[in-house]
Amino acid sequence: MRSPPFRYTLLAMAPKASETKAGEPRRGEAGAAGDPQPLDETLEVSLRGKTRRFPLVRGSEGETAVDIRALRAETGLITFDPGYANTGSCRSAITFIDGEEGILRYRGYPIEELAERSTFLEVAWLLMHGELPGRDELASFEHEVTHHTMLHENFGRFFGALPKDAHPMPVCAAAVGALATFYQEPESEQTIHDAIIRLLAKMPTIAACSYKHFLGQPFIYPRNDLDYASNFLRMMFATPCEEYAPDPLLAKTLDLLLILHADHEQNCSTSTVRMVGSSQANLFASISSGISALWGALHGGANQKVIEMLEEIAAEGGGAERFVQRAKDKNDTKRLMGFGHRVYKSYDPRATILKRYSREVLERVGGPAGSERLFEIAQRLEEIALSDEYFVSRKLYPNVDFYSGVIYKAMGIPTNMFTVMFTLGRLPGWIAQWLEMRGDPDFRIGRPRQVYTGATLRHIGG
Ligand code: CMC
Repeated sequence: MRSPPFRYTLLAMAPKASETKAGEPRRGEAGAAGDPQPLDETLEVSLRGKTRRFPLVRGSEGETAVDIRALRAETGLITFDPGYANTGSCRSAITFIDGEEGILRYRGYPIEELAERSTFLEVAWLLMHGELPGRDELASFEHEVTHHTMLHENFGRFFGALPKDAHPMPVCAAAVGALATFYQEPESEQTIHDAIIRLLAKMPTIAACSYKHFLGQPFIYPRNDLDYASNFLRMMFATPCEEYAPDPLLAKTLDLLLILHADHEQNCSTSTVRMVGSSQANLFASISSGISALWGALHGGANQKVIEMLEEIAAEGGGAERFVQRAKDKNDTKRLMGFGHRVYKSYDPRATILKRYSREVLERVGGPAGSERLFEIAQRLEEIALSDEYFVSRKLYPNVDFYSGVIYKAMGIPTNMFTVMFTLGRLPGWIAQWLEMRGDPDFRIGRPRQVYTGATLRHIGG
């Protein structure tokens, strides 16, 4: 491994707030979050005849927050915010989303520009370090990632111990957790750097092995002459019996999909990575927990559910209207998968890009039988939902998962691998957020409180 290109914050050297001026990056990792700006305004809270003032702070894009860190000490109160819909859990300089306007930017760059002009590894560097890499930096980064893709041979036995029909998501979570057993060196800037490179390099290998294990086919070793996406496609689809040449269009499409999934600020899996990392768990353990969080149907697992939903509608004759009725019925458990978002209250910009690409990919590669039909049903569902009062009034629009499955399907990716594809994309975002958390001057173990509603004191036999 090369020496780290940037400084990483070690647990022994967490920066202090006093060491940086407001708005400036902090000591430690490049691209770390600065302080929010204090405002002159305060929020007044009156309780039992006494008024207290809590300061307001503002981020660089105008998001204003009330700083309630002194709330409990001053009033004895805590906040109650199930699902954290009103809670800013951290400062962050990585990803900006304006959910009302449908804006997504990584480190200030619009997702549309990055999708058009960057590669996934460039975006990974950008997320982790705050700036796009220079030519030499990128070449060195690509070289390192390319040359650490192989898994320890003992990993073969690890996969062999799992049931044959194991879903690839828990396999990936377990395999990434298991990486921590292969690399147990004490923490240093070098070992953090090594862990980052190993994760980015080995994740596609682990993902492809999880699929090959499911199929019962031999694992395909990575090749150093292929780019990140092509290498993954080859490890997925080659067999020892014949050579497989990755289609450049599919490799480019995959690279784009990875970029679109690369970060999304404090979502469920990212908050999980930060939460686990806040206990000082290492990077492998933190990322493994993020993969588990991503698996759920309301989060990354939705892309698998979308295609299953489209297939179900197709099998029943294609009646999208009936499905929409069921999704609206509160007595029915069906939801319109791939629709709605906690933050976006207009079209998800990633879905806009993916819808366009779905059309292009289908036109050029066709995909397995029925792919075109699924795309038609998806478009019809969208059309019905976007003119239906239920969806309009709740501001429910297609999210990233709505069209990504159609593209994966056309690319020949099996349905149970869809969420693994999301994992590959989200990895650099999780790493960037983990690094940022460790350099945060407010770094503390994550530990929410609760409003206890259980039994009051009672005694056995009483
Ligand atoms: N179909 C039908 N109704 C919906 C849907 C949907 N997909 N999404 C939300 N609603 C309704 C919900 O029933 C509620 O109605 P009411 O106010 O009458 O009770 C209202 O809209 C608000 O929904 P919510 O569940 O309180 O919203 P939330 O912010 O807690 O949840 C969500 C957001 C993404 C979990 C939710 O919209 C959902 O379950 N969508 C389907 C699953 C999905 O596509 N997930 C992927 C999200 S994007 C990628 C990612 O994060 O991984």
